[in-house]
Amino acid sequence: MLMPKETYKNHYEELFSDENWLVETHEWNQQKQAFRETQFTIGNGDLCLRGVLEENPYDSYAGTYISGIYDRTGAQITEIVNLPNPLPIRIDVYGEKLDPVATDIVHHHRTLDLKTATLYRHSVYKTTHKKRLNYISRRFVSLHDKNLVVMEVEVTPLDAAMTINMQTGIDTGVTNKGTVTEGRKKHFMTCETSIKTGYNYLCVETFEKKVFVAYASALEIVYNGKARTVSERAVNLRVLKNETIIFRKYITVRSSSSAGLAEIKKETLSALKKARNKGFERLIAEHNAAWQKKWSVCDINIEGDEDATRALRFNIYHLIICGSETNDDASIGAKTLSGEGYRGHIFWDTELFILPFFIYTNPKVARNLLMYRYRRLDAARNNAAAKGYEGALFPWESADTGEECTPSWAKNFDGSIIKIVTMDEEHHIVSDIAYAFSNYAKVTGDESFLWKHAIELIVETARFWTSRVVLNRKKRRYEILHAMGPDEFHEDVDNNAYTNVLAKWNLLAACDLLAKTARKSPARLKQISKKLRIKPKEIAMWKNLGDRIHIPFSKKKRLIEQFDGYFRLNDHRITQLNDHFMPELPISLDWKDVSKTQFIKQADVVMLLYLLNDHFSHEEKRRNYYYYERRTLHKSSLSPAIHSIVGLEVGDEDKALHYFAHALSTDLSDIHGNSSDGIHAASAGGTWQAAIMGFAGLRPHDDFLALNPHLPSNWKKMSFAIWWRGALLKIRITSKKTGVEITKNPKNSKIFLQVYDQTQFLKPKGITCFERPETKRKKKRRES
Ligand code: BGC
Repeated sequence: MLMPKETYKNHYEELFSDENWLVETHEWNQQKQAFRETQFTIGNGDLCLRGVLEENPYDSYAGTYISGIYDRTGAQITEIVNLPNPLPIRIDVYGEKLDPVATDIVHHHRTLDLKTATLYRHSVYKTTHKKRLNYISRRFVSLHDKNLVVMEVEVTPLDAAMTINMQTGIDTGVTNKGTVTEGRKKHFMTCETSIKTGYNYLCVETFEKKVFVAYASALEIVYNGKARTVSERAVNLRVLKNETIIFRKYITVRSSSSAGLAEIKKETLSALKKARNKGFERLIAEHNAAWQKKWSVCDINIEGDEDATRALRFNIYHLIICGSETNDDASIGAKTLSGEGYRGHIFWDTELFILPFFIYTNPKVARNLLMYRYRRLDAARNNAAAKGYEGALFPWESADTGEECTPSWAKNFDGSIIKIVTMDEEHHIVSDIAYAFSNYAKVTGDESFLWKHAIELIVETARFWTSRVVLNRKKRRYEILHAMGPDEFHEDVDNNAYTNVLAKWNLLAACDLLAKTARKSPARLKQISKKLRIKPKEIAMWKNLGDRIHIPFSKKKRLIEQFDGYFRLNDHRITQLNDHFMPELPISLDWKDVSKTQFIKQADVVMLLYLLNDHFSHEEKRRNYYYYERRTLHKSSLSPAIHSIVGLEVGDEDKALHYFAHALSTDLSDIHGNSSDGIHAASAGGTWQAAIMGFAGLRPHDDFLALNPHLPSNWKKMSFAIWWRGALLKIRITSKKTGVEITKNPKNSKIFLQVYDQTQFLKPKGITCFERPETKRKKKRRES
């Protein structure tokens, strides 16, 4: 019989933040185990651990990932390495291994406190002898000390004294999960392991790249008010009824491809010693303080819609824990560091969906993400050359080396295995990356980055397009043939509008940048031109190509045509919605025929309307949005958030809210049924963009920042912070006015802001207020 919750003791509850910061589950459901492991991932930007239960129950999938550590063996495809699991704790009572799959569990509650990035758990087991054991645990990956993991487990026999056998270690038995086409894989071997008084040590080495990953751990037992460190991996203890025994495990993790075995061991052990000297409480306090600082910039608070606030925090949390502040040689994979979906590969998701969050809340991480691409510019040059192109062609799927690593086969929606051609056709990634470099430079005003890195990348990507376009002599225009746009339902199309417009943007952006450099600093232009061997003739060619790239447009329909011939495809209606009120492919159609229809997988033309927002009139946006929105099946999680932003802009508020809510719940409610493979990073980034670019209406311009808020009627107040041109702005929006305050401005930048239709320089101190025009008018009427 299930006991009422109150009868079970969990003193951690006193530590919980308010409920708008909590993600919880109150049930044990074996089917949802892998999903919860993803959802409850904890990390600090460099190291992430899936939220596996300490007991490693049957079917659990422990995942330990370090940003940037990839490997492959033989003909395999490079993938993120699943490293040894430092969390396992096995408890045996009366010879019975306790875990929720094997043992009766009468109470089970897990809580991820997003505010402090701490994972709590409370279970009550009932053994086959009908004796109950209260089990609580908490753990965190320190944000203060990037190499440290700390965990605590407390057990209390509730009915009778018990002999408890506890066993722990670092589990090297883990493998990568693999895929249907490749199977399970292991990517490391053990090089050293030792058990000494006061600590355990393990060092593994990845097979191909020879990266060392070292772990040192210490176990402390607190019993009868006394703490002692134990060296054995297994301890036997007699614990009386209602007495509590506490196990605390401190783990330090280091990785290196350059340090020797002795050096890495020394570093890992000295980090462990340092942590032990600080003690448990101080380690927690430092970790909490680091998160408090983090949230003071990253949080979005919506008064009036607490569910949206909590869901946004969940999505933002997952972005924070996978973006490294220190490593400029790694990027964020499509599934963050919370699972092995897409093998940890990096797509355009990072630059267009995830990066904006970091550009505005932590430019340091954003710069690192871009440096990851910049450092792989040579690989992109080689990739282009190998395929007969000029300039730089970034891979569709990227890992550590920057070489193309898209697999040739994958599972389709109907379960069939299909050939993948994205790597040969989704060349839009080239200008997506260039766009991201330009966006970062525009928002941050980071000129050194612009001169040193952005120009080179934008020039090399423009060069790619010069070789990718072909001249259609008859029509006197340039075309891009055999391509695929963001909509992956249609392969091998000619003149995908998204690709062509962005290629055009890329070519003209290179011209503009060089023209600006010529005006600002002729000496620098000389330097750059010399380094990149740019001749004036070449710049003229970019301009000519850019101006003459064909953009498919139907005069009759007054619509952008997604690609040549798209409007001639079968135009079916959406007749069915799924449980989440999202469109389904009509049952009369087969997945293999979807390319013959106008159904699209995700935002394509609509993505274009969003990215190059000021290239289109309101009317153009409206017409195109409504046409394509009705034909989009949103079979990619990248799609809904973008529809929310553009929908809001063109007045489709109900749908905008629907898409926003959908994107927010992607991994909170496992909407796509595959969250077990990892968090949908692009969707998480999309939720931030929908809130800030959508509801707050933020848009960066060359000389000013614009806000055009549009809050849903139940949102009383929306508060958030962003970095703009080196200053930190706190923004509060209500239905009547918007207040903006500069809270940090180390470079004393002058901030020019446009809110509604008013433009003002922000006061250096205090809040600058912008009233909604309607509020102003009402006030005036009242006064007169
Ligand atoms: C989408 C791509 C995306 C990839 C990784 C695919 O399903 O169509 O646009 O880059 O997933 O998230």
